[in-house]
Amino acid sequence: MTVDTATVLAGPPAAAALIASAAGQAAHLPVVPHLVIVRVGEDPASVSYVRGKAKKAGDSGLRSTVHALSETTPQSDLLSLVASLNSDPDVHGILVQLPLPGHIAEAAVLAAIDPDKDVDGLHPMNIGQLWSGRPTLAPCTPAGVMALLAHYGIPVAGRRVVIVGRSQLVGRPLAGLFLAADATVTVTHSRTRDLGTVTREADILVAAVGRAHLITPDMVRPGAVVIDVGINRVVGEDGKARLTGDVHPDVATVASALTPVPGGVGPMTVAQLLANTVQAARQQLS
Ligand code: GUN
Repeated sequence: MTVDTATVLAGPPAAAALIASAAGQAAHLPVVPHLVIVRVGEDPASVSYVRGKAKKAGDSGLRSTVHALSETTPQSDLLSLVASLNSDPDVHGILVQLPLPGHIAEAAVLAAIDPDKDVDGLHPMNIGQLWSGRPTLAPCTPAGVMALLAHYGIPVAGRRVVIVGRSQLVGRPLAGLFLAADATVTVTHSRTRDLGTVTREADILVAAVGRAHLITPDMVRPGAVVIDVGINRVVGEDGKARLTGDVHPDVATVASALTPVPGGVGPMTVAQLLANTVQAARQQLS
């Protein structure tokens, strides 16, 4: 007996297409779009993500600058840096890497970024635009998921979408983007009763909770498209650490299409950041 397996929705080709399109737009601008990334402290995942974002920006023909501040930086110093970046016409995009150390109020920092330079789409004004059905600068991972679906020709309008997870960075804004794209959207979370009954309704199921292999084959409607946003570090039977998603690998026998981890949504997040930086530069220059 043969077992059907899902089409792999690979991130790298979709990310390359998104970057090529953004670079093409950037070539028509009178300046090279400049992304500034601010990191506070030495959280190893943040150090690695920021390095990856800056390198990809450079490789793609954009300018990038990283400000690495110490763990004990006072909130007032961070706000002063954001204010100076806001008023610098040579800076087009600002990203403050999260999470921030506990003594800094994340919401205050995000609200201090000029909404026109907010390439993370996390300023309250940009969140409001998104939920009004007019997304401008949208958060990178959710916007990257939408770009991935578009790249692979997966229709969204009229489809039933179930999102598992309601985070500020992924679940909530992704729900807004799907709604703006005319999907019927359900957001589930840790208090949802009988999760499997809800997830089995999905034409498109998105897992974004950060729990390895939470989504098992019995929770997936045969033929559904499954997007795995989770990046979990687990130690295998061989004692080696590796990355795995929120979706159990056996879901590939039920789904029609599935994103791998790593190599699925991750590259789209970085590509979308560069696309947002070009969009921000265009907005500021028009
Ligand atoms: N940390 C993890 N993901 C993100 C993101 O998309 N933006 C920011 N600013 N920090 C993050």
